[in-house]
Amino acid sequence: MIKPKVIIHGGFFSESHTDAATKLAKQESMKRIVSLAYAYLLEHTALETVAFACELLEDDPLFNAGIGSQIQSDGQVRMSASIMDGISRKFSGVINIQDVKNPIRVAEKLLAYDDRVLGGEGATAFARSQGIEPFDVRIPQRIKEWEDKVAARGIGTVGCVALDSKGHIAAATSTGGKGFEMVGRISDSATVAGNFANYAVGISCTGVGEDIVSVALAAAIGTRVTDGASLEAAFKKSFEELAAFDGFAGAIGLTAQGEVYHADSHPSMVYALTDGAVVEVF
Ligand code: GLY
Repeated sequence: MIKPKVIIHGGFFSESHTDAATKLAKQESMKRIVSLAYAYLLEHTALETVAFACELLEDDPLFNAGIGSQIQSDGQVRMSASIMDGISRKFSGVINIQDVKNPIRVAEKLLAYDDRVLGGEGATAFARSQGIEPFDVRIPQRIKEWEDKVAARGIGTVGCVALDSKGHIAAATSTGGKGFEMVGRISDSATVAGNFANYAVGISCTGVGEDIVSVALAAAIGTRVTDGASLEAAFKKSFEELAAFDGFAGAIGLTAQGEVYHADSHPSMVYALTDGAVVEVF
């Protein structure tokens, strides 16, 4: 039987969040959430687990997804999230959804439909049609940052990749975006550049969406592994491509063989992983 594993990330520590107390609080949250996700994984599929872990991360205001999402240039919050099942290869996502607590749950519901990526008003209307109540995810700290016009790029997109006991992999990613972006800007998090899974590998990214898309980071790592590269070699090659233009990104990944890897282009991404025996938090 395959040993289940789960890895999560909580984005980058930003300029405005580098104090020791916040770093410690984020690490404690990561430890709590990865442990809950692992316990859940023992009774559920990888697909169910990545949605569960992302929901917990979205509910934690320390991270830039769901509650605590960043605010765009017009004062509105628009969130993006996606989920990919490595076995069926189905990818579903919401782009620029508004007024929902858990975008990942809306993305998860779309897996059952033919049209699986919805944007803007269509995504929000779909959530309502599914009985998801309106919810304001703005917290006082983000409102103050927006009022102060503090740019805090890539501060805390969240993600999870899980390998279940059947050897199936899934990946999920959720974000509040860059902060202060133009209305209509599209995040990488609901594309295969930011979130990818197949039978061999799963990847979730954080950082500046435009940089992630420029190297198709998650899909590039995934394709290299699927074509025979080790996870480490695939990460290294893809991050070299990112470094060529000083791209700002981090990623986590795991393979069906149980390889786990992570990298960040700039210090530092917060992440945690466990196979049940040890919980590692960084
Ligand atoms: N990676 C999150 C974003 O740029 O929207």
